[in-house]
Amino acid sequence: MEGPVLPPKNYQINRGFRFVDDYLYCEEIRVCDLLSSKISGQTVATPLYVYSKKQIEANIDKYKMAMMRETERNIQLSYSVKANMNPTVIKLMMDHGLFLTLVSGHELRLALQLGQDPQRIILNGSGKMDWEVELACKRGVLVNVDSAFNLRQTVRICQQGGYVATVLLRVNPDINPDVHGYVSTGQEGSKFGIPGEELDDVLEMAVKSERIRVVGLHCHIGSTLTDSHKFRQSTQVLVDLYQKIQKKIPEMQILNLGGGLSIPYKAQISLFEETKQMLDLEFDKYKDQRVLELYENLLNKRITLATFLESIKSLPHGIEICLKLREQLPAEVLVPEPEDLVKTVCDILPPNTIAILEPGRSLVGNSAILLSRVLGTKSSGKRNFIVLDGSMTEVIRPCLYGAYHHIELAEPSRISSHVNSDNQLTVVSDIVGPVCESADFLGKDRQLVPPHTGCLMAVFDTGAYCSSMSSNYNMRVRPAELLVDGDKATIIRKCETFENMMFCYTDCSQNSENES
Ligand SMILES: Cc1ncc(COP(=O)(O)O)c(C=O)c1O
Repeated sequence: MEGPVLPPKNYQINRGFRFVDDYLYCEEIRVCDLLSSKISGQTVATPLYVYSKKQIEANIDKYKMAMMRETERNIQLSYSVKANMNPTVIKLMMDHGLFLTLVSGHELRLALQLGQDPQRIILNGSGKMDWEVELACKRGVLVNVDSAFNLRQTVRICQQGGYVATVLLRVNPDINPDVHGYVSTGQEGSKFGIPGEELDDVLEMAVKSERIRVVGLHCHIGSTLTDSHKFRQSTQVLVDLYQKIQKKIPEMQILNLGGGLSIPYKAQISLFEETKQMLDLEFDKYKDQRVLELYENLLNKRITLATFLESIKSLPHGIEICLKLREQLPAEVLVPEPEDLVKTVCDILPPNTIAILEPGRSLVGNSAILLSRVLGTKSSGKRNFIVLDGSMTEVIRPCLYGAYHHIELAEPSRISSHVNSDNQLTVVSDIVGPVCESADFLGKDRQLVPPHTGCLMAVFDTGAYCSSMSSNYNMRVRPAELLVDGDKATIIRKCETFENMMFCYTDCSQNSENES
C-alpha cells in the first residue's frame, strides 16, 4: 500500500558518521556495503562493530587543543584502556603520544607488548594480584596505590625483587559525581581509593619505606560525568592535599585528575515540542543569518543537536542560546567538552606540577556503532518489539546501567510506507536482542519507521565499554570489529568462532561428525 513517507535522513552526526538519503555512512563508506564486499579478503557478518578512525583522532585533537591552549601548564593525556582494549585502538593512542592508564596485569602485558614506554604507563586497581604488582614494579611503570594493604603488598614485592616502586596515591575525595551508582567511584563508602581515615598511616608508611617513591596523587570520582564543576571539586581536594604534604614528600610532582567525562549519548534525539517553542521565541529575537540557518538545519534534521550546539557557541548570542537549551534538555545531550574540563581546573593547579587527564569514554565512545540486522518484529500486549541479531552481549550498558544508546535504521526500510491506526508513520518499539534474558534490551520505547526483516540498524556510541564488556553468554561469539579510514575498511578483530569458545574446555567432544 502506497502512502505518505517521512523525508529521508540527511545529516552529519560527527566526524565519523552521517546519513545520506537514509543510508548511514562511516566516513566514505556506506555501512551496508561493508557486508556485501570482502574486507581484508574476508566477508563479515552482523552483529559488527564499525569504528571511525577520523572520529577517534578528532576526539584526541579536542583534548590536545584544550591542553595546548594552557601554555603555562604541563598537562598529559592518558588513554584509559579499559574503555576499549583493541590493540589497533591502543596503538593509535600511542602514535598520538598518549600515556596509557591500565587496570590489570594483562592490560599491562599488552601495553608492553605494543611497545609503550613503561614510564608512560599507569597501573591502577583496587585489588591487584602479586604478579601484576611485580610486573609493574619490575618494569618501572607508575603504580596507583589504592589502599594500605596495596601499599604493604607493593613494599613486600619490591623487597623480594629488589625494586623501587614509583607510586601515585589514589585518594578518595568523597565527592558525589551525580552519576549511576555503578560508575561512581570517589564517595565515602566506595571500594576505590585510600579512605580519609587511612591516609595518614599510608603516607607515613610510604615515606618511611625505601622501596617506595611517592611522585604524586590520584583520584577518579566516576564515569559519565556531565558536570565539570565536580571535576574541579575533586581536583581541589587533590591540590589541597598536595600542598599539605608537599614538604614531607618533596619529590611529588604529579596530580592525576582521573577521567570520567561523558559523551552526548542523546545528541541525536529530536527536539521536544516545548523546547522547540522556547527556541522559536529565542530565534525571533536574533536576526543573525548564520544563527537562523543553523536553527533551520536543526529543525529539518540536517544536523544533530550536538553539531548545532558545537557550531552555535561561536555565533552571536550562541552562549545564551546554549544556556537556555541546557535548562531544557537532558544532561546526556549537552555534556562538557574537554576544553571545559581543562579550563575548570587550570587556575587551581599548583605551579611546576604535571597534571594527568585519563579519559576513556570521551576518546572512543562516539567513534563506533554496532551494526545489527533485524531478525523480525513482534508484539506482546501493548508492546512492540524489534528483534535484532545484536544484543546485551555486545552492548551491555542499557541492561547494566539503564544507559541510553541511540538507535536508527542504517538503510531505508523496505516496508512500503504506511500510516498506522494512530495516523503515525512511525511505531514505538523496544529494540531487543535474541539472548534468553528479559534484561536483553538495547533501547526501550523508540519511535522508528518500521524496519523490514533483514534491515540493518545501528546502535550508536558503542566505542567505549561495549566491546570491552562483551561476553559469550548464551554461547554467542564476540563479533568482528572494523576500522574505517576514509574509503578503506580493515578488520581489527576477527569474529570469534565456536572453536575459539571451546578452546579452554577439557571435556569437549572431538568428534565434529556428531554436529550434523
Ligand atoms: C582510574 C580510572 N581512570 C580513568 C577511567 C576512565 O573513565 P572514563 O572512561 O569515564 O573516562 C576509569 C574508568 O572508570 C578509571 O577507573
